[in-house]
Amino acid sequence: MAHLLGIDIGTSGTKVIAIDESGKLVASASADYELFTPRPLWAEQNALDWWDAVCKCCQNIVAQIGADDIAGIGLSGQMHGLVMLNAKHEVLRPAILWCDQRTQAQCDWITETVGKDLLVSETANPVLTGFTAPKIVWARDNEPHLFERAVMHLLPKDYIRFRLTGEFATEVSDASGTSLLNVPERRWSRAVCDKIGVSLDHLPQMYESFEISGRVSALGAQATGLKEGTPVVGGGGDQAAGAVGNGIVQSGIISVAMGTSGVVFAFADTPVIDPKLRVHTFCHAVPHKWHVMGVMLSAGGSMRWYRDTLGLSEKAVASHMKTDPYELITRGAATVAPGSEGLFFLPYLTGERTPHPDPLARGAFVGLTLMHSKAHLARAVMEGVSFGLRDSLEILKEMGVSIGNVRANGGGAKSEIWRQITADIFGFPLSTIAIDEGPALGVALLAGVGTGIYGSVEEACSAVVKVTRGASVIEENARVYEKSYEIYRGLYPALKGSFAQMGELA
Ligand code: XUL
Repeated sequence: MAHLLGIDIGTSGTKVIAIDESGKLVASASADYELFTPRPLWAEQNALDWWDAVCKCCQNIVAQIGADDIAGIGLSGQMHGLVMLNAKHEVLRPAILWCDQRTQAQCDWITETVGKDLLVSETANPVLTGFTAPKIVWARDNEPHLFERAVMHLLPKDYIRFRLTGEFATEVSDASGTSLLNVPERRWSRAVCDKIGVSLDHLPQMYESFEISGRVSALGAQATGLKEGTPVVGGGGDQAAGAVGNGIVQSGIISVAMGTSGVVFAFADTPVIDPKLRVHTFCHAVPHKWHVMGVMLSAGGSMRWYRDTLGLSEKAVASHMKTDPYELITRGAATVAPGSEGLFFLPYLTGERTPHPDPLARGAFVGLTLMHSKAHLARAVMEGVSFGLRDSLEILKEMGVSIGNVRANGGGAKSEIWRQITADIFGFPLSTIAIDEGPALGVALLAGVGTGIYGSVEEACSAVVKVTRGASVIEENARVYEKSYEIYRGLYPALKGSFAQMGELA
């Protein structure tokens, strides 16, 4: 039976999965790498670390299932990152990531130079600090000696594509987050590129997500163990790919991704734009379809911060018990009543995007009293993230997006208690799916479409995506959370000015 490979270049690590045509997981491998913060607001990774991780994972998969039956490969990854290559196709500097916040001045310059109306009519979005174009302009402004040598600007997964196939290619869903794509027409925006001085020759060839963009080269095969000639499809940015892996390929179902970032994602038949530009409008990985999404920067990232700072004792006990520290942390949180007895957490640990596009926003615990314990802090972190996600849900509701069903995925959704908190805060039941392999599954399915195993993305999803357990809303909790949410909404506006002043200190 044919196998399909999905490769996801995440922020904490790379994951590679192989499925069969029925969607059964036949092999998986993962490898982690570091994220560097050389200065406040900066976030970088080495593109070569991604490639090493991909090579290790692919070799591992090939050792498990062989390379001959792999019919196609899909690539997914963290969006918005910038990898610059020189004429010898070497990496010029560490990749600047999606959660990097250094580019406010460049965002202002782009908005002024292009003009807000043209920018929105072409790219369907405002330009935000995490997006790619301001990073290119930042390199031009701050590292001209490197910028002058750049001949290609690539997104993270597209650098891996280049190493695998030798092709410079991308696809519409990931390119949507560059501020350089004409999102309604699904092609590079000559108008924006011309105005800000980005040469179209320095951008990769554009594909739809299911289309074959190249084949594993002899070099790629040697490094990974994959078979030379294996087709590699466009794939998708992690959110669009994750949505395919969750079956969000028709109106009415929305998803909430609780990974490092947190995303509320809705399918759209047309490129609908929030008049207040609070959520992103991007091309979907489904041909001729789009999606809207609200992105918070530190969702699971907030819990990871908790684990690595306040949760050190749980970490130690968990390693002794050979269990997951999150299991112990969330078990403690479950002993606290909904609302954390008036304690709130603002999850803006790396600034925020939706609904507050503010690189200077900060995390905060608000409402501490002597009676609050560590378990309260843990619960408040989970609730604060879910309130932040509700902010995006409210915008989608305001835009008239139909919401029949909410599918949760990502590391956070694996926690029963966090799923319940989110269902109660959203006021909607949450479902999850049987194989929660998110973006890697989504791009494996796209590879199946591109190689003719499935007739369409929709067909692939209905063959493979099976909805399982969920969390129904507990009305009593939901009532408590309605009141808490009103308080939560007031906290960012009250603290915004202080956050900006704190930025002057560090
Ligand atoms: C989406 C976004 C994040 C990253 C990392 O706009 O910034 O989801 O792709 O996961």
